[in-house]
Amino acid sequence: MKILVTGGAGYIGSHTCIELIKANYEVVVVDNLCNSSLESLKRVESLVDCKIPFHKVDVRDKASLTKVFEQYQIDGVIHFAALKAVGESVEKPIEYYDINVGGTFILANVMREFNCKTFVFSSSATVYGDPHTLPIREDFPLTATNPYGRSKLMIEEFLKDIFVADDSWCISLLRYFNPIGADKSGLIGEDPKGIPNNLISYISQVAVGKLEKLSVFGGDYDTSDGTGVRDYIHVSDLAKGHVKALKALKDKSQVLIVNLGTGNGYSVLDIVKAFKRVSGKDIPYQIVGRRSGDIPTCYTDPSYAKEKLNWKAEYELDDMCEDTWRWQTMNPDGYL
Ligand code: NAD
Ligand code: WQD
Repeated sequence: MKILVTGGAGYIGSHTCIELIKANYEVVVVDNLCNSSLESLKRVESLVDCKIPFHKVDVRDKASLTKVFEQYQIDGVIHFAALKAVGESVEKPIEYYDINVGGTFILANVMREFNCKTFVFSSSATVYGDPHTLPIREDFPLTATNPYGRSKLMIEEFLKDIFVADDSWCISLLRYFNPIGADKSGLIGEDPKGIPNNLISYISQVAVGKLEKLSVFGGDYDTSDGTGVRDYIHVSDLAKGHVKALKALKDKSQVLIVNLGTGNGYSVLDIVKAFKRVSGKDIPYQIVGRRSGDIPTCYTDPSYAKEKLNWKAEYELDDMCEDTWRWQTMNPDGYL
């Protein structure tokens, strides 16, 4: 089975290529490299010992996408290509809607032309907003508080509408919690441009000495230690979830909506402690005011993923920190 991976040079996409190839799928990648480097795919090729056809294509470019579908018999698509920074989405809503929503419209249109109707979409736990109860189940109410989150919600609605109009589509909406970690090899990982927005990338740059200290956003939440709680999931576990989603969709027309998380909530200070433990480095930090738009606590109920995908996360928090640290120390300047 041949799978087109959009955004396959990126953080989650590159890890997913590995799992797809290990599971005997053939992979074709399109990416415009706006937030990644071709080096990630070269390293993936070295890890799986096979060539991955790559096309530098923007998913909004219908003519180029069409050429890719003409060249390969694509059986299904995993659609990672998107912009993903919440704060930036508030500054640049046009870009976020254009790329995330517009890009998905064009992709789905081309897929229909080629009768390719298996679609796995990268959604996010952000679509649950600030949940009233925990853990978060897939049937919880959906909401968005920023353009990034709204773009994900709009795409979810769009894909559901496609299925209503033509129930031969096999669609999975995967709502990721907080992906961290890196491939065990230390060869691929998250390579944020500039100052990282996300906690684990920030901490690892403090540990390696590139940043001075962590600002902990809020010490007065109603959580065990007052800091925000999240469901951190190893990116390789997440990647395996995509393979399981493809298997679950095989010949089964549906819209399958699944949360991908571990079900465990860890606070910011839990992460600081774990990172310190595995790296042996001090992580200086200072508690500052809350970050606008943050919620106190977020973690999934993983039982539906187990039931529908036969998938559950395997890695523990220390593995995730250890693997992040290995990637960081082996590549202090990312892929450069
Ligand atoms: P990433 O930025 O590393 O990967 C996205 C890839 O898409 C990049 O390689 C980028 O160059 C490419 N891309 C962006 N715009 C494109 C376009 N117009 N045409 C072609 N390629 C384009 O991000 P990631 O963390 O790997 O995220 C992958 C997906 O998962 C995204 O859809 C993101 O919204 C979603 N997601 C990520 C997280 C997270 O915390 N990392 C959480 C939930 C959901
Ligand atoms: C985690 C915790 C922060 C940085 C975001 C997006 C979400 C999804 C994943 C794409 C929070 C705290 C962080 C720092 C800190 N992305 N923190 N100091 O906000 O849960 O989720 O990434 O879909 O949509 O919103 O992740 O890693 O930014 O923050 O104290 O310098 O760490 O307040 O409690 P978040 P994060």
